[in-house]
Amino acid sequence: MPGFFSQDFIDDLRNRVNIVDFIREYLVLKKQGQNYIGLCPFHAEKTPSFVVSPHKQIYHCFGCGKGGNVYSFLMEKDGLSFPEAVVQLANRCGVPIPQDELSPDKLRQNSLRERYYHINELSANFFQKMLYEPKGKRALQYLQNRGLAEQTCKLFQLGFAPDSWDQLCSFLLQNKVTEKELITLGLAVKSQKGTLVDRFRNRLMFPITNASGKIIGFGGRVLDDTQPKYLNSPETPLFSKGKHLYGLNLARGSIRNKEQAILMEGYMDVITAHQHGVTQAVGTLGTALTEEQCKLLMRYTYNVVTCFDADTAGQKATKRGLDLLQQLGLKVAVMTIPEGEDPDEFLKNQGYEEFQKALLQAYPVFEYNLLKLMEKYNRDDISGKIQIIQELVPDLYRVQSPVKRQGYIQMLAERLSFSEQAIYAEIRKFQTGQSFNNREQSTKNTVQRKKDTVTAADTAQRVLIRLVLETPEILLEVEKAGGKELFSNDLYQEIYQTNYLLSQAGHNIKVEDLVTHLENEEARQVLTEILLSDELLKEGKRIYQDCLTTLEIELLNRKIEEKNILMTQSEKNGDVTKSLKIMAEVQVLIKERQSLLSTLKKGGGNLEG
Ligand code: GTP
Ligand code: MN
Repeated sequence: MPGFFSQDFIDDLRNRVNIVDFIREYLVLKKQGQNYIGLCPFHAEKTPSFVVSPHKQIYHCFGCGKGGNVYSFLMEKDGLSFPEAVVQLANRCGVPIPQDELSPDKLRQNSLRERYYHINELSANFFQKMLYEPKGKRALQYLQNRGLAEQTCKLFQLGFAPDSWDQLCSFLLQNKVTEKELITLGLAVKSQKGTLVDRFRNRLMFPITNASGKIIGFGGRVLDDTQPKYLNSPETPLFSKGKHLYGLNLARGSIRNKEQAILMEGYMDVITAHQHGVTQAVGTLGTALTEEQCKLLMRYTYNVVTCFDADTAGQKATKRGLDLLQQLGLKVAVMTIPEGEDPDEFLKNQGYEEFQKALLQAYPVFEYNLLKLMEKYNRDDISGKIQIIQELVPDLYRVQSPVKRQGYIQMLAERLSFSEQAIYAEIRKFQTGQSFNNREQSTKNTVQRKKDTVTAADTAQRVLIRLVLETPEILLEVEKAGGKELFSNDLYQEIYQTNYLLSQAGHNIKVEDLVTHLENEEARQVLTEILLSDELLKEGKRIYQDCLTTLEIELLNRKIEEKNILMTQSEKNGDVTKSLKIMAEVQVLIKERQSLLSTLKKGGGNLEG
């Protein structure tokens, strides 16, 4: 969230106001124990569940879940962006905003994230330069052979990672990047000898950016048929698989103008699309579409056309992606590409006009699914018809508009020569089952929500976060025990990791300021909840060791599970040596787990109660 202002300025400014006085200007607060309590300004309620803590300088509503510090309060209440909230608060406090706060250099020094973007940018420039040097000749030739214009390569900042062990590393080290940063950003790996080695070697490089064009990671393609064809950045503080869309920075204007986004799979598909004027194209990068990607798209349009390779269009993963888009309320159509081609080849072979034609003929998802099912089952035979109808009923049920739904039912009845009544009856049957499930679900959500989340491991994770934040001395120990990996929940991971990275970068961070650093609103809310849930600490630090042990056991469980899968695979492949080796490793892990379990029993502190 920072970026505009230095962290010191942001934290100092926040320190000037007392959150209780500040929030009192908006609502009535009553003292209760150490905290203050009032009616939540963010949702309608009759009994107060909005808690403000003068000690931690944060608030949390135990009714609607909203939480944060003064900045989040301003943002939420007045609909401001973070920088706007800072300016507003500075004005209220009569604090001038120092001019050098805005200089790019300061900005870079001050924010860890900005620093990471900067290092990625340096790397992208390095790769780009290599492409035009003699050793990049083959790569450049490759791009030309695939029909990419020089302008396109520049637009996508394509580059080349030379066939060398450490050319990028030494370049970056010379530029004052540390070894640790190289590893954190996934640009280098430690070899067995302990030396640093470039992750990407002898590969075409595709920088991956976020929606505002900052480089968050890389994909690297081999120049021949070796495997893996693509190597991507690992999970880093900037890059997570499935959370971004390739090319969105270049496509977003066009997506808004054309009121449409085209989803493709590959780097090359998106790049070729843009070169041919299909500038509303973005890429999922080979993973099944995720909810995060859908939500990202929804910021720009509600109208999506998928354009996947012919061979993948019918796959289960794609079906789930389409369902997801529809469930989120997007209008989705499926564009079909001739068998054996991908969008990249189609555009190169047939050109823009033909692509536009195919785009206009994209099928709404329902029709597309019907077509696929008619290929799969025999519609001349009664059991085939029943199969088709049963598979389509959930889709029909989800169609929001009654007019549209009726139209589809008519279409289905006609194509299958089946009675409309019978189809309606199937939908009703499905609906009954569905609403029963929903009823169960919703009672569970409201009445039992708390109970749901209270598993030993979950409590342990929450307690641990609280302890790490309030007693920073234990951070190193927790890091040794597995750090981020101890947390199975993404949000906990994000909170833990953000705090960890900040403390690594030398920030002596206060819990109330950590809120400012969390970009994800949900994570902020979970954080304030953890900080203000006092029952978590009823047993005090006594349960810390149990927490840690519980989570270490959970981590071992996950590792054992992974190894077991590997073992089965090696067995299947007939690789006996490997499977025996893994089995031995599993034994070691199981022993470790047993000894942890026994310490847990001895300690006796049971978290589940
Ligand atoms: P070209 O073969 O150069 O045309 O690449 P493409 O972009 O068309 O790739 P393809 O259709 O084979 O795969 C689609 C996307 O899946 C790629 O752009 C990658 O993001 C991803 N992908 C493909 N192969 C691999 C792989 O071996 N490893 C990883 N991590 N991702 C891959
Ligand atoms: Mn391709």
